[in-house]
Amino acid sequence: MSTSVIIFGASGDLSQRKLLPGLFSLYRKGRLPDDFHIIGFATRSWSDEDLRRAGRAGVEQFADFSFNDAEWDAFAARLSYLSGDFTDPAAFAALGEALTALEAGPADRLFYLATPPRFYADIVTNLGAAGLVAEDGGAGSSRPWRRVIIEKPFGDDEASARALNQSIHQVLDESQIYRIDHYLGKETVQNILVTRFANAIYEPLWNRNIVDHVQITVAESVGVGSRAKYYDGVGALRDMFQNHILQLLSLVAMEPPASFDAEAQREEKVKLLRAIRPIHQDDVAPHTVRAQYRGYLDEPGIDPASQTETYAAIRFYIDNWRWQGVPFYLRSGKQLAAKASEITIQFKQPPHLMFPLPAGAEIAPNVLTLCLQPDEGIHLRTQAKVPDTVADLHTVNLAFHYRDSFQANSIPEAYERLLLDALQGDASLFTRGDRAELAWRLLDPILNAWRAGKAPLASYEPGSWGPAEADELLARDGRAWLHGCAH
Ligand code: BG6
Repeated sequence: MSTSVIIFGASGDLSQRKLLPGLFSLYRKGRLPDDFHIIGFATRSWSDEDLRRAGRAGVEQFADFSFNDAEWDAFAARLSYLSGDFTDPAAFAALGEALTALEAGPADRLFYLATPPRFYADIVTNLGAAGLVAEDGGAGSSRPWRRVIIEKPFGDDEASARALNQSIHQVLDESQIYRIDHYLGKETVQNILVTRFANAIYEPLWNRNIVDHVQITVAESVGVGSRAKYYDGVGALRDMFQNHILQLLSLVAMEPPASFDAEAQREEKVKLLRAIRPIHQDDVAPHTVRAQYRGYLDEPGIDPASQTETYAAIRFYIDNWRWQGVPFYLRSGKQLAAKASEITIQFKQPPHLMFPLPAGAEIAPNVLTLCLQPDEGIHLRTQAKVPDTVADLHTVNLAFHYRDSFQANSIPEAYERLLLDALQGDASLFTRGDRAELAWRLLDPILNAWRAGKAPLASYEPGSWGPAEADELLARDGRAWLHGCAH
């Protein structure tokens, strides 16, 4: 049986940077089915050759492996292109004919929606009307399957996410829908579960008795670049928190799933989101910071009066037995001092210190940092005795780095992992429909309060670690932001 991958929005940036390089890498590793075809579908009037050229340029520029002409040519021979309007049923009839001609018999199909979000519902409706996503293998048959990957953002608030879910559920069963969050495809993010649940030593510490607080930082040194139009309408909270950062929070704080099965994991993530204490619209200012980098308004394509945040920080609490009273500080922004994604768990001070410290001195508490990127690994800050002293203490770092423990280039691109999982029908690293709505429910009051001007828009210097207000958010609690991977 053959397999078709259909990319809607194939002439765009995502397809060139991530999807075609990801598929090509899978092909080189022998992980794609023997008989596969890739059809690019977009409005631009391109030929098959145009898609192949763009694909090759994408691989050359964005993939971290080298390849030869023969490998590329063999892969490129499977690529074809069809131009059409995402809202035009006739274009989907033409897609159906192209698929039938290529597949020559029953075939599995993976549709990838890499288009602007306003087309998601129309595309799924048109796929349904054209009969392209019906799983007609008969009762009990798992093949041929039809699956649809949907890019982010999935809605822009709870109501629109619910409406989108309702619309696509008219056509697709939830088991056919793969809502993508590329952070879940990152090796280090998958490793959070392994760290927590394949080691016996962490779990007894992972709670309010020993943990003082948790920080999640996703910092980027880049600005909005060529995505000004998209970004200015979205902002940091929608772009990074609804998906990536709340996923990281779920993984670090959820209860142990009973099995590695997709539903068992997704169930625990949803339970965790339900336990997060919602921030009421009138109480947003003391729990959040929103800020814009200086110079943002002068970026090409940005509304000169824009109030869009390029940085956000939030303090959440989780109302359950494990985490009651432990603050979770989340932050993300553009144009910051460095690209760094990390999760930091700061532990409490030892209950009693018998060592003779200078009056008023405190020791640096233990900190476990999951370094997600760019220097992947795990650090543990601990205390050691300074040699040749009676009992002087010094803070040292125990570190594990992927670059030392695993082969060079062993970390694949997140999209590669996720494309393979979708082809294999493993939805563990994809977002379930109810989770998308719940995440918006937590953010909607914040977005509404910000829109209503209930929290001031702060500013920060490009190249800094963000606004002073974000430091104050933690300072008010007697804490400070940490850079656990920098040591
Ligand atoms: C995307 C956001 O989802 O994630 C971008 O839309 C952001 O604004 C990107 O730059 C960050 O991803 P990564 O993998 O570079 O951390």
